Amino acid sequence: MLIPIEKLLSRDEAAQLQQKLRQAGWQDGLATAGSLAAGVKQNLQLDDEDPLAAELGNFILRRLGRHPAFISAALPAAIYPPKFNCYQDGGHYGLHVDSAMMAVPRSQVTVRTDISCTLFLNDASDYDGGELEIEGPFGVQQVKLDAGDLILYPSTSLHRVTPVTRGARIASFFWVQSMVADATRRATLFDLDQGIQSLTPRLPADDPELLKLTAVYHNLLRQWGHS
Ligand code: NI
Repeated sequence: MLIPIEKLLSRDEAAQLQQKLRQAGWQDGLATAGSLAAGVKQNLQLDDEDPLAAELGNFILRRLGRHPAFISAALPAAIYPPKFNCYQDGGHYGLHVDSAMMAVPRSQVTVRTDISCTLFLNDASDYDGGELEIEGPFGVQQVKLDAGDLILYPSTSLHRVTPVTRGARIASFFWVQSMVADATRRATLFDLDQGIQSLTPRLPADDPELLKLTAVYHNLLRQWGHS
């Protein structure tokens, strides 16, 4: 399931990040590609050691931590520190699957990649191409969102970024290890939570059916979740 989270960052916040990144010291993305990906990857990336990556990454993590729709959709147990990339001059990333386990630099932590995330930092109208294409049970879906918007998609899916033929596509990307690894179970919990959230303002807080649904949500999470 693809889940867009609109306006994770405000227009102003996204513009500030974009401005800083436009002046960043980008490196060839090949440096960080696994052996399989190396043949298909042509883009620029910010080095993990670059202080700007840590500064902007921490800012994004704080926004994620207080965004109810992201928490509900991802049920995060761990988030890989956000990375940054730029596609321009025909830059692209051919069809690939993300590595299942990602070691966090300078730590003992390894994040299992259940959910892949792309946070768009400039508007779709700023560039041509650069669509994120994700293969799934219903065929290929194309994603190209505006600045500040985030897409979550299953890390199990094959995906690619089409060549950018005008302008530059600037984005952050990262992975989530979810408390609920199974995508079908996670989607069920998300649907249930969204239903409860939309019923809540319409019913008294002590409505017995609403309480029952809330209990079902937490009892499923108890059965399926791992911290
Ligand atoms: Ni990928």
